[in-house]
Amino acid sequence: MNSFMSWVGGKKALRDEIIARFPLQYERYIEVFGGGGWVLFHKQPSEFEVYNDFNPNLANLYRCVREHPDELISELTFVLNSRTDFEYIRSVLKSKAEIPDVRRAAYFYQVIRQSYASGLDSFGSQPHGMWSNFPIIRKACGRLQRVVVENKDFEKLIKQYDRPESLFYCDPPYYKTEDYYEDVGFCEKDHERLADALCGIQGKFLLSYNDCDRIRENYSRPGITIESTTRLSNIAQRYEGGKQYPELIIANYDTTDRSRSSKQMLLFEM
Ligand SMILES: C[S@@+](CC[C@H](N)C(=O)[O-])C[C@H]1O[C@@H](n2cnc3c(N)ncnc32)[C@H](O)[C@@H]1O
Repeated sequence: MNSFMSWVGGKKALRDEIIARFPLQYERYIEVFGGGGWVLFHKQPSEFEVYNDFNPNLANLYRCVREHPDELISELTFVLNSRTDFEYIRSVLKSKAEIPDVRRAAYFYQVIRQSYASGLDSFGSQPHGMWSNFPIIRKACGRLQRVVVENKDFEKLIKQYDRPESLFYCDPPYYKTEDYYEDVGFCEKDHERLADALCGIQGKFLLSYNDCDRIRENYSRPGITIESTTRLSNIAQRYEGGKQYPELIIANYDTTDRSRSSKQMLLFEM
């Protein structure tokens, strides 16, 4: 299924490639940099799943979708697609004023939906009716029922959930785009901190990144595979149809298990 929200850096275009590289067996699925959760919503549900994001407004929105979908929808019912309202709501969120959780979630959702390219900054001036989102919010509520929602820095989260049977999917801010996520203060040094946190774990990890020397260097370590791929660039599509964006898929296990096993199944069926 699709996510109920778009998000900067969302993995809609790469989600099939990512899931095709998941191990055949794992018991715990932990999405460390959750954002719009495009991989979480697309994969088959596992018994034990965690969605995490360090942005408190995102974690609150996910909790409200899961726990209070009716109240959230009711808060969104009379939202206008108006620049003045958008700017007001955005300034209230920025002011860190005390707002009840469901209202805060509705404000944040409104800013995501109405901002240009979901960048949260400027009004998008796009024709958009909020009601069209209500069915997918309800569907997301059902999908999230057994998902634990966390709001932790990645290093703490990885330590907390690391077990031999864990799979961590990590989609951090890309190198040199750290400031797209200003609410969380991810900085250049955090790329090394992430590599150090991941390279010593008992469980498995799969990481998606932009293709650049610095990231390749960080993960040039024994037992780590680095694979190049490309995806259609969401924003560039508007101006240059078909433009591809180079990406890396990095993992600490053999990512070909799933594709080899489905090829074997096909051979048996022939
Ligand atoms: C590239 S986006 C993830 C997109 C997501 N995979 C999707 O499909 O929508 C990166 C996310 O990392 C989160 N983030 C930034 N710093 C973090 C940290 N220290 N710990 C956990 N999450 C963090 C940001 O808030 C942002 O939502």
